[in-house]
Amino acid sequence: MISNDALCQRSLRTIWHPCTQMKHHETVPLVPIQRGQGLWLYDFDGNRYLDAISSWWVNLFGHCNPRINAALKTQLDQLEHIMLAGFTHQPAIELSERLATLSGLEHCFYSSDGASAVEIALKMSFHYWRNHGKLEKTGFISLAHGYHGETIGALSVTDVTLFKDTYAPLLRQTAQVPSPDWRRAGPGESAKTYALRCAQALEAYLEQHHATTAALIVEPLIQCASGMGMYDPVYLARARQLCDRFAVHLIADEIAVGFGRTGTLFACEQASIRPDLLCLSKGITGGYLPMSAVLTTGDIYQAFYHDDTTRGFLHSHSYTGNALACRAALAVLDIFEQDHVIATNHTKTEAFNRIAAPLAAHPAVSNFRNTGMVWAFEVDDPRPDFANRFYAAALKRELLLRPLDNTVYFMPPYTISIETMAWLVERTIEVIDTL
Ligand SMILES: Cc1ncc(COP(=O)(O)O)c(C=O)c1O
Repeated sequence: MISNDALCQRSLRTIWHPCTQMKHHETVPLVPIQRGQGLWLYDFDGNRYLDAISSWWVNLFGHCNPRINAALKTQLDQLEHIMLAGFTHQPAIELSERLATLSGLEHCFYSSDGASAVEIALKMSFHYWRNHGKLEKTGFISLAHGYHGETIGALSVTDVTLFKDTYAPLLRQTAQVPSPDWRRAGPGESAKTYALRCAQALEAYLEQHHATTAALIVEPLIQCASGMGMYDPVYLARARQLCDRFAVHLIADEIAVGFGRTGTLFACEQASIRPDLLCLSKGITGGYLPMSAVLTTGDIYQAFYHDDTTRGFLHSHSYTGNALACRAALAVLDIFEQDHVIATNHTKTEAFNRIAAPLAAHPAVSNFRNTGMVWAFEVDDPRPDFANRFYAAALKRELLLRPLDNTVYFMPPYTISIETMAWLVERTIEVIDTL
């Protein structure tokens, strides 16, 4: 019989786990998972956990989804992978066509994870201006408290102290403008008025620095990793206008919020805008396989199309456009269409907001907020190890929840039922009450 303990020991001997101070595992046990089914993860000792955060926000339709499984099994017997330079294949072509139709951005560049998509978008923007003879446009702007990944370029536009400060000597200088997150609004100021005030700060920055700025990168509508900061779509609309006026690219990093998370397929739809570069990953394969994509306009694509090789975008990753990942992504898009997922999620969102009323009203809870299929709130608990304590207490109640500092959030797979939502809310209240 394989036990949790035996696997933990082997894992800790060999695996350097991500985003982890490994010494913490002297006191905090790992959770070895034997299998997943729908919303549930099962360990080797017979315990189960509700995956209320979609395994770092990737899983849209549950674990071991029969439809995605079937698509992958068929693909596996046809073609697993080929390099995408000089070759192409049907799943990549079909996926690019469908993403182009859905986003209005006709050219698709694939890579393997979110951070690599951000690197690509930054490089593409810089190289576009270079190909147009604008050699001085090398700067990037991002939002305060934004998160775009851990590689050197992505970390340069990230603004989360915990992840960034240690590596500061390695990073490019970038500029941060105020975050429109409504929790930072002044007393009596509405989310919209505050977002417009932040857009004025962006305008002031661009007025001065547009000549040396290549792009503004934003997480549309929700700044996820820094604590689920939500903001009014008017900010995106104003940012689009300002980027147009000052000839600066708008990069929408929808790695976390794309594919229905905010209530529309892409968050930018809520501001009726189209970015110049759209970064997608995480939910793109339903949480099955690592893949990302950068979608862009004909204008940007044409700036690279030339007899001169070095004007081309000579960026690559070995697994670019992996056939299995593309097939999983196509199965995900089929589910969106066949199950009317966006409309169904609206009904679920309304139900969840009703069900969550006692949690929102809990005396230790503040800033209860919701956008689409994301819910978040702060728990009033001054202890510095709140997040770890909450995580451990939640696991004991069959919940996988991983607070960001004092922010607890739900980002469940879209297949969650109303009954399970009620159970999740009930158990979360229990966790808060027993901490
Ligand atoms: C908005 C955003 N951008 C980029 C990334 C980086 O993606 P990955 O972890 O796949 O590199 C993340 C990951 O959480 C993210 O939330």
